[in-house]
Amino acid sequence: MNTQPWWQQAVFYEIYPRSFADGNGDGIGDFLGLTAKLDYLHDLGIDAIWLAPHYPSPFLDCGYDIANYADVAPEYGSLDDFTAFLLAAHARSIRVVLDLVLNHTSDQHPWFIESRASLDNPKRDWYIWRDGRDGGPPSNWASIFGGPAWTLDPQTNQYYYHAFLKEQPDLNWRNPDLKAAMWDVVRFWLDLGVDGFRLDAIATIFEHPDLPNHTLPLAAHDILDANALDEPTYRQLLRWQLKQPGLHELLQELRRLVDSYPGDRVLVGEDEDLAFHGAANDELHLVFNFPLMRADRLTPQHIRANQIQRLAQLPAGAWPCNTLGNHDSPRVWSRYGDGAHDADLARLHIALLLTLQGTPFLYNGEEIGMTDLKLGGLDELRDTAAIHQYHKLVDTHGLPPQEALHAALATTRDRCRSPMQWSDAANAGFSPPSATPWLPVHPNHTAGVNVAAQVDDPTSLLSFYRRLLHLRRTTPALLAGEYQALPTAGDAVLAFLRFDPNSRQTCLVALNFAEDSQTLAIDLDGRQIRTLFTSQAREHELIVTDSLTMTPFEVLIGELREQ
Ligand code: NOJ
Ligand code: CA
Repeated sequence: MNTQPWWQQAVFYEIYPRSFADGNGDGIGDFLGLTAKLDYLHDLGIDAIWLAPHYPSPFLDCGYDIANYADVAPEYGSLDDFTAFLLAAHARSIRVVLDLVLNHTSDQHPWFIESRASLDNPKRDWYIWRDGRDGGPPSNWASIFGGPAWTLDPQTNQYYYHAFLKEQPDLNWRNPDLKAAMWDVVRFWLDLGVDGFRLDAIATIFEHPDLPNHTLPLAAHDILDANALDEPTYRQLLRWQLKQPGLHELLQELRRLVDSYPGDRVLVGEDEDLAFHGAANDELHLVFNFPLMRADRLTPQHIRANQIQRLAQLPAGAWPCNTLGNHDSPRVWSRYGDGAHDADLARLHIALLLTLQGTPFLYNGEEIGMTDLKLGGLDELRDTAAIHQYHKLVDTHGLPPQEALHAALATTRDRCRSPMQWSDAANAGFSPPSATPWLPVHPNHTAGVNVAAQVDDPTSLLSFYRRLLHLRRTTPALLAGEYQALPTAGDAVLAFLRFDPNSRQTCLVALNFAEDSQTLAIDLDGRQIRTLFTSQAREHELIVTDSLTMTPFEVLIGELREQ
């Protein structure tokens, strides 16, 4: 019997609500549209949805600037529409996890409007306000989106702190009233029946109260995007702004609150630091394996090294969590493709994600091979961080506008947020043909990159995803098994075992990343491989051998049997 909690067995699917399905024809995704697509998700075979922010928001950071935590953005529908969606998802055994942004609100949130009103407003201390130093900001800290992390508010002549956009003021988590108000928000959604939260940007929640300057020779004004810096520079730059004392205690408190509800509600942290599981496994349930994503190509060497390191560091009792893409990163197809074998590589990548030990997170659209959108010009950009980047490149870095535009369009997060491609109709079936979608649809929706074209085609990427999701769901070793690396000859093939002591099932996973056939010597203690899944037609279901020949880009998943 598998005793894993649901969130260890589940496959999560991130939905970007603005881009998923437009039910009322105004060019913006909404709950009406999303609810109508739940059968699609059920057929696909996912178990849980991570819903990117659905709250009222001025939308300067695509919903991560929340103006009301206990409601639904009017363009997405009403709270009743949300509840109908939640019930309909649950009726299909699909769980729903919300995005919870604890670090900051929108500057349009009533809390901030009150807080900025006067020095003695009761909510003044709900945000981080400080006097300037030496005629400038209180410290030399940078915003993660570039530029200074402090903005002077002329109303009271004090600066407020923002780890992200200036329209996203940071909350002061040292204030007990703020904390109580946010825990009420958490209860509000848990009472409605949501299954947990993806916690946004948790490392940013506290800052050092004394505001020490970082010591890098980098001016905040010169920074365009802190995420683009190399790791050590990033860490040093944000030395006093990330992972400050108090964070673990706060997450423990949140965990206790969530655990006080029945049904194994889950907390997933937007961070890669395994310390967020908690010293006693009492903080987050899942922490993303972002280092796996951090590569130009997913090579067997990279994956092997990642797994060795990650699993060795995993605290006892904690469970891994793997992903290859989300609403902040390039599309999996575009990022890890080589331009020549993209369709084969896309199959290898999903096979990898669904067979590694850990809970997989998919991103909407990857199952049909959606690719990065190339926007035409500045007027099409919706990602404020990219618009700022463009202006800064022109105004402070002196770049010619065309070059600055090129840079902004190449890295904007809009590229992976374009509308879901449901068909080859105008607007890709996302919106009716008469509407103007909030972001352009990708032109490749007419070239087979759409659900309708793939859904009944057994050779499509979508069918490949469905087959694999079904296999995973029905294969105990893939759900629960330990990862055991298999040494293979050469660098072309990644092979590993998943062994589940409960069911005594052992699976072999072999992924040939090369464009030519590969023969590998494997020692399986005399056991046979019974094929469970293969991307190629294999003549024999049973492979009895101590060496395995794999066709180019083959995915092979088998079960080991005694002879
Ligand atoms: C992480 C989110 O994924 C990203 O989209 C957002 O801009 C930042 N956190 C700030 O909330
Ligand atoms: Ca709509």
